[in-house]
Amino acid sequence: MTDLEAFVAGLPKAELHLHIEGSLEPELMFELGRRNRIDLPFKSVEEVRAAYAFSNLQDFLDIYYQGAGVLQTEQDFADMAMAYFDRAAADGVRHAEIFFDPQTHTDRGLPFSVAAEGLLAGMKAAEAKHGVTSKLILCFLRHLDEDAAFATLKAAEPWLDRIVGVGLDSSEVGHPPSKFARVFAAAGDMGLKRVAHAGEEGPPEYVREALDLLHIDRLDHGNRSLEDEALTARLAAEGMTLTVCPLSNLKLCVVDDLKNHPIPRMLELDLKATINSDDPAYFGGYVAQNYVELARAADLDRDALVTLARNSFEGSFLAEAEKARHLRDLANWSTA
Ligand code: HPA
Ligand code: ZN
Repeated sequence: MTDLEAFVAGLPKAELHLHIEGSLEPELMFELGRRNRIDLPFKSVEEVRAAYAFSNLQDFLDIYYQGAGVLQTEQDFADMAMAYFDRAAADGVRHAEIFFDPQTHTDRGLPFSVAAEGLLAGMKAAEAKHGVTSKLILCFLRHLDEDAAFATLKAAEPWLDRIVGVGLDSSEVGHPPSKFARVFAAAGDMGLKRVAHAGEEGPPEYVREALDLLHIDRLDHGNRSLEDEALTARLAAEGMTLTVCPLSNLKLCVVDDLKNHPIPRMLELDLKATINSDDPAYFGGYVAQNYVELARAADLDRDALVTLARNSFEGSFLAEAEKARHLRDLANWSTA
């Protein structure tokens, strides 16, 4: 392990942008395929990994939704969650707020309860095993219509005391946040937090819509906000947390090279950027690797890495006392 790798692994951090279905490694995908007698269109783990060459978000989503088809039982979801938390714990993650896509599962006939109960069981077991706390965020698929999102919110009702908020993911361009204004208002009325992917491939206008129409508490990605100076100034003034995903941006061609990644510029502009892994099984690295590769390529110093970790706790949905405890641990660690 290099000094930088050891520094990053020890750095207390939260992960705020992680699609749990995107943590399904090919090895586990094959194991679940065998367990559930589901044929995969690949002969080997190597063949799966070779298929992970994407030129944009949609390329990735097509293969990602296909991979999720092996998930059939609560145990499958619990096993996938535990595999993620084993990796996250090794990466210095103290708290994670994880997305799941219920419609990916209900649309292929699974009851809402299978994903929800399985994930919640995995999260509880991971806390007992590693001491890593977590919260669950239900994402609506934006390529589907708002009525489908409303039906999902309704199906989620028995679990809403264990779901911290709602999010918006899947194909961004052509599916602006405005399409989901009413369902996000309903979620807000139910006391749920609100987050949305915006400005990954979509224009700055989508980020404005997420702020003004969805009333988001946190912005997922947000890279393209930087094209609009007034919007950037507003995000800084509002102290909006951005959950940025460097290796995802590279794999989905949102950036051409990590050395040109916007995170250093975001920090200069006083944006509350954080580093996250998005879909680590598909994008070639968990959260620590995102810190390390970005630090190397974009020449981030240790103070910048500590700032990014601090932003991750401050931008979390933890109670103030919990945030304060993590921030104290981080301060003690970084001055030790
Ligand atoms: N963007 C949009 N939808 C997604 C992503 C992403 O990076 N990962 C999983 N669903
Ligand atoms: Zn994402």
